[in-house]
Amino acid sequence: MRTSKPYRHPNAASGCHDTSVITHTAAVAAEALRAGKLVALPTETVYGLGADATNADALARLYAVKGRPTDHPSIVHLADLVEARAGWASSWPESAERLAEAFWPGPLTMILPAGSRPDPATLGGTGTVALRIPDCDVTREAIRLSGTGIAAPSANRFGRVSPTTAQHVLDDLGTDVDLILDGGPCSVGVESTIVDLTGPAPRVLRPGAIITEMLEAALGTTLSTSLETAPRAPGTLAAHYAPRLAVAVIDTVDAAIEMTGLRIALLADASDWQLNPIPSHIVMLLDTGTSSAVYAERLYALLREADSSGADCIVAVVPPPGGVGDAVRDRLTRAQAPKR
Ligand code: TXA
Ligand code: MG
Repeated sequence: MRTSKPYRHPNAASGCHDTSVITHTAAVAAEALRAGKLVALPTETVYGLGADATNADALARLYAVKGRPTDHPSIVHLADLVEARAGWASSWPESAERLAEAFWPGPLTMILPAGSRPDPATLGGTGTVALRIPDCDVTREAIRLSGTGIAAPSANRFGRVSPTTAQHVLDDLGTDVDLILDGGPCSVGVESTIVDLTGPAPRVLRPGAIITEMLEAALGTTLSTSLETAPRAPGTLAAHYAPRLAVAVIDTVDAAIEMTGLRIALLADASDWQLNPIPSHIVMLLDTGTSSAVYAERLYALLREADSSGADCIVAVVPPPGGVGDAVRDRLTRAQAPKR
């Protein structure tokens, strides 16, 4: 049974092709969430697969559909700061207040001691809760109307490439998702920065568009960025965010030019090729644009396209370090790790 009426996207070229599970209306999404359905929600980072964070049955189905181990926690998405402070976390330190003021709504997730409101299934046995207010009006409105917090891991099967359009969600999850709120393509393109506020000092668990220097400026302290002790964060596993083809990460296009024995799908700044013919072993050139922000925005769509190119492998020229380039480098490195 579907909770939405069939909907035809006004711009078929950019919209989702199977329209039977698509809505553009926050109220329709909220009604489905209240009824315990699984609703894919757009955010500025990637699409999330949402379920009521207080509904154990809905959460059990969320974990089953995603194929996610039950001991991996999920981020609870909230409509506004008043709601974020209301019982989802058991304490609300000054650091949380400062970061919320500086970056919410936005691509930042905070880990705090868990309060009484989240169902234990969202916490994965950590005793802590991850909170975020996404910078996407239609999703915040859907969450507000749902009257609850929404647990939403990225709307892809566990370990795979995150979705940045409604069509990606449909391609991955098909009829396992009850409804998709189509908010168009995601603008940031890589998942939120995760900062852990439960230890002696704030610590970044996953890099994103809110970079360490921005967090430090808002907090007035220096952050630890060591990832190795992060407990149950699959986004910090060595092999994650992975396309089906093998991925190799390189620093400059020269390395790709030399890989003549393989048919490769290459992610690179296409302006590098303007004066040169593209060698024939590069069967597909996917343009990452001229800035790290554009690379981040396009990353997952390009990896999906590369995956279906018929190439032997994907080769990606990484953006320079710094800014959101660090998040792109992080995700590509994990995509490159040997598959389990
Ligand atoms: O941008 C994002 O964060 C997207 C959108 C949908 O909001 N969500 C996302 O969710 O990337 P997910 O589940 O794919 O990645 C969330 C990461 C996981 O690595 C998870 O283990 C970690 O956050 N996480 C969630 N709760 C946690 C907790 N209490 N302690 C430590 N890590 C936690
Ligand atoms: Mg994910």
